[in-house]
Amino acid sequence: MTKVLITGANRGLGLEFVRQYSAKGWDVLAACRSPESATELTKYASDNPKVELIKLDVTNEADINALPETLKGQAIDHLILNAGVLGDDCATLGEMTQSKWLEVLNINTVAPALLIQALRDNVAASEHKTIIGISSRVASIGDNGSGNMYSYRTSKAALNQILVSAARNLAEQGVKTLAVHPGWVQTDMGGKDATFTPQESVAGIINQAEQLTLETSGSFKVFDGSDIEW
Ligand SMILES: NC(=O)c1ccc[n+]([C@@H]2O[C@H](COP(=O)([O-])OP(=O)(O)OC[C@H]3O[C@@H](n4cnc5c(N)ncnc54)[C@H](OP(=O)(O)O)[C@@H]3O)[C@@H](O)[C@H]2O)c1
Repeated sequence: MTKVLITGANRGLGLEFVRQYSAKGWDVLAACRSPESATELTKYASDNPKVELIKLDVTNEADINALPETLKGQAIDHLILNAGVLGDDCATLGEMTQSKWLEVLNINTVAPALLIQALRDNVAASEHKTIIGISSRVASIGDNGSGNMYSYRTSKAALNQILVSAARNLAEQGVKTLAVHPGWVQTDMGGKDATFTPQESVAGIINQAEQLTLETSGSFKVFDGSDIEW
């Protein structure tokens, strides 16, 4: 039996991860912060008994810390750290504030780190032992030609660093990590004019997750497998 846990599973890329893993026959733990208003996900789960909803606001540290007990004995083959915000009200010189910035960092950076900490034994106990962080090309310092996006860029660059550290620290247990840029995708965040559909992006990410080895662990890739400079 193979299992995936996905954060931010109620819409966008997260919901598409739920659909594609479920279509592959995996058990899916679909985490979202407001299951009561996650109509599409709730309907999907009611039609697909292998999809289980978990209420999780990734900024709630107590809820994250309760996960090891709630999920005790459950091996998690793929941990998909997907929940994220763009921080578009904390993007340019002139509009940044401490509170807005810390909120972005909390969701995009601190939460994935705490989730890795909380669930590392569940991942290590699985067959596939894979952690995927949904990063972004704009995390790349070498690729930063246009500036701006201060809070988002830094939050995802720090996420990348966390994934590399986790790759080093968990290698002994056979756990692999990957930071992946999903492409510019048609979701609420990416907008209608984005280049890729969630279907294309998620299929590519799952493919990359399945190809990940201990040798390639801790790398930063696009969903199609091409590398991105740090
Ligand atoms: N779309 C793109 O072009 C693109 C490009 C590069 C990277 N990404 C990354 O891909 C990931 C998914 O993005 P998306 O395009 O699917 O965005 P989206 O449609 O805006 O969805 C974002 C998801 O994150 C969840 N989320 C936000 N804050 C949360 C919190 N505190 N606790 C739990 N869940 C929370 C949202 O839940 P609610 O519905 O409750 O708000 C939603 O499920 C993000 O990490 C994003 O940075 C996207």
